[in-house]
Amino acid sequence: MTGEPRSSAAQFNARADHYATSEIHRAGPSLPVLLALAAPGPGDEALDVATGTGNTALALAPQLAHVTGLDLAEGMLAHAQARAEREGVANARFVVGSAEALPFGDGVFTLVTSRHAPHHFWHVERFLSEAFRVLTPGGRLVLADQISGSAVLQPWTDEYQRLRDPSHFAQRTVEAWQALTAAAGFRWTAAEVVPYRLDFGWWTRQAGCTPQTVQALRAHAARLSPAEARQAGLHFDQGGDLVAHTEPMLVVRLDKP
Ligand SMILES: C[S@@+](CC[C@H](N)C(=O)[O-])C[C@H]1O[C@@H](n2cnc3c(N)ncnc32)[C@H](O)[C@@H]1O
Repeated sequence: MTGEPRSSAAQFNARADHYATSEIHRAGPSLPVLLALAAPGPGDEALDVATGTGNTALALAPQLAHVTGLDLAEGMLAHAQARAEREGVANARFVVGSAEALPFGDGVFTLVTSRHAPHHFWHVERFLSEAFRVLTPGGRLVLADQISGSAVLQPWTDEYQRLRDPSHFAQRTVEAWQALTAAAGFRWTAAEVVPYRLDFGWWTRQAGCTPQTVQALRAHAARLSPAEARQAGLHFDQGGDLVAHTEPMLVVRLDKP
């Protein structure tokens, strides 16, 4: 890893207004897949970890008993709370806390979700063991997170992501997720990979990238051979300019036996 990753709270507090209005986060295609795999019902007590501006928690809320959204960044949670009030959602609450040390007792949730966030966690194995602990036996964890197509390209991908958003930590492969979740005690029940094509201009504006950072990202992309660039999901226009990339998003349901 080059350089220290930046704290997510600092990064996301600074960008909270942009996330609150981002359609990709509010309604992007991983959300319906996550909801289908989670299969929420009226008896469910849910926890949405790294809820950000509450997109996943507020999509779950109408279908279950209660949902708690947790995040490190108070600025993101303020948007989540305001949206819940605007939309008259009475069964959602939002709390500040860390995914790696969940401030809840054992076995108090039937469903835990975390969407577009675990790649920020510095200690994902602690998050998985915490999710396991707070779930009831028979409960489920449903994750949606961007993945790397190959272990060989992961260092390049992590550097690319971290240049754009210094709070990026690691974009794991499916095989790494399988090993980590099995070690935490989960059963891998169902999974789908949802591709996100992200426009380069939108993607860099969303993170508040400076012109220097945009240049550094283009230079980083230029380090790959054409075959590697295809594998990394990069898209160029006819003049060879980087215009977009495709991020595969793993959505997986994990059951606590
Ligand atoms: C892309 S946003 C969240 C998206 C949101 N889950 C959704 O469905 O739209 C990532 C969030 O992860 C939070 N985050 C990062 N690391 C965290 C940690 N260790 N514990 C709790 N929240 C964390 C950030 O503060 C940020 O709000």
